[in-house]
Amino acid sequence: MDLKTIHVAACLTIALLFLITTKMMILQRKDLNKRVPALPPVVSFVSLIASLPTLLTRGLPAVIHGLHAKLGTVFTISLFGVKKVTFLVGPEATAHFFEGSESEIRQSNIYEFSVPVVGRGVLYDVDLTTRSRQLSFCTNAIKPMNVRSHVDAMVQEVEGYFAQWGQHGVVDLKHEIWHLILVIANRCLLGKHIRENMFDQVATLLNELFDNTSYLISFFFPYLPIPPHHRRDKARSKLGEIIHDVVRSRRTSSGLADNNDNDDMLQRLVDSNCINGRPLTESEIAGLVVGMVFAGQHTTSSAGVWTGACLLNDDGGRDHLAAAVEEQREIVGRHGHRLDYDILQEMVTLHSCVKEALRLHPPAMMLFRHASKGFSVRSREGNVYEIPKGHTLVTCMAVANSLPYIYKDPHVYDPSRFGPGREEDKVEGGKFSYMSFGAGRHACLGKDYAYMQIKVIWSHLLRNFDLELVSPFPEEAWEKLIPEPKGKVLVSYRRRVCSA
Ligand code: HEM
Repeated sequence: MDLKTIHVAACLTIALLFLITTKMMILQRKDLNKRVPALPPVVSFVSLIASLPTLLTRGLPAVIHGLHAKLGTVFTISLFGVKKVTFLVGPEATAHFFEGSESEIRQSNIYEFSVPVVGRGVLYDVDLTTRSRQLSFCTNAIKPMNVRSHVDAMVQEVEGYFAQWGQHGVVDLKHEIWHLILVIANRCLLGKHIRENMFDQVATLLNELFDNTSYLISFFFPYLPIPPHHRRDKARSKLGEIIHDVVRSRRTSSGLADNNDNDDMLQRLVDSNCINGRPLTESEIAGLVVGMVFAGQHTTSSAGVWTGACLLNDDGGRDHLAAAVEEQREIVGRHGHRLDYDILQEMVTLHSCVKEALRLHPPAMMLFRHASKGFSVRSREGNVYEIPKGHTLVTCMAVANSLPYIYKDPHVYDPSRFGPGREEDKVEGGKFSYMSFGAGRHACLGKDYAYMQIKVIWSHLLRNFDLELVSPFPEEAWEKLIPEPKGKVLVSYRRRVCSA
């Protein structure tokens, strides 16, 4: 072999080796990209500090909104390097959050704060199988087929309550609606006996229970020995005794279960049997029924007040108010003043007005979970991120409900966005685009029941009163565990001579 041939062969070998190495590197990188997706972008310390003024003036959702605009639909906040909190925003990023199994996406430890309220041996104090069974009793007790008959009782309570208003006056809507929801809960969930014989006592105990659980500290340290927690525990124990007595007396009075007076949630739980045929114990029943009252009180009254504030707002609400009043007029024309479950379903305009108030002002501001297993998520921007085991996961309803690619002019109160031809919550994002009642495995069980109550109340108000908002349109009290309108929501009313 001459020198020239050796030279050419060496060059060819080097070129071949170079090509093989480059190809292998490319393949390796592709493989790496496939197997180890990147971690989500982390909010820098500087960004966190820069967010403080927004946090103090406009609340947490505004901060999350800003971070979402900057970093996309998946990002992590590191709390002093000790805790990693990953935010998932919008339908694309939240599917696993809502649908993952408890062994992957854990919910129970997040709701530990509710154990002293609801009681030992129920819901978030028991294993998953027991909790699922207990929740299935609640689902059954609260499903539309079983609560449609509650409309009569709701109407009676609402009519009785507003009959006490004068011909005209000014009220704090927050106080009125809170009280009404409590009255309805006493009647439809706890039963007629409690409503008629011990309402004041039970309402005081429930208020004690709610007031002393609304502190943020109760969320993080539910057992801290502080005065509010002593008051909470005392109220819960007394409430438990009252409910145990009622359950005992229902079980011992033969035939009472068939009595129409006991068409309430408590009775459905009394009649529930576990798989082994064992009836629920008194403390299980008390825990579940208190849990339902707890889940529905703040949420439903906040929704009822925001519906009013939005409709009575001179800045854009009054056209929708006119449409809702007109709908009531038409319905009265067809059915008279009678109301039942099916007639409530015909109130589509009112339904959209409530739904839109709830979109803009979701009572559950954020939902939390714990990643028990790592998982990967594809952001709306198309990036695939690995969320490591141990991260706290958060989705913010206020931000999710205001995404501009789902809702046109998302900050405008516009109930007609849910109407025929638009249905914005169904076009993009599917089942994860309207988030006020959660979604997936733990979606709200009381949604239909909540709508029933709010529609009974607002149907009565729209038919019988002319209303004006006399205080400024309320700000949101973001600092609360369950945000509500800040301060009083003053409304003037004048009873109509001829109702709608
Ligand atoms: C406007 C009123 C209401 C709103 C906005 C609301 C909102 C929610 C949300 C967002 C969740 C999901 C929680 C999560 O995923 O961690 C939820 C769950 C739940 N809600 Fe509601 N809720 C309302 C009324 C009610 C009422 C009236 C009841 C019962 C009487 C109720 C009972 C429940 C229960 C039992 C769960 C837990 C379901 C589970 O973990 O499987 N809610 N609610």
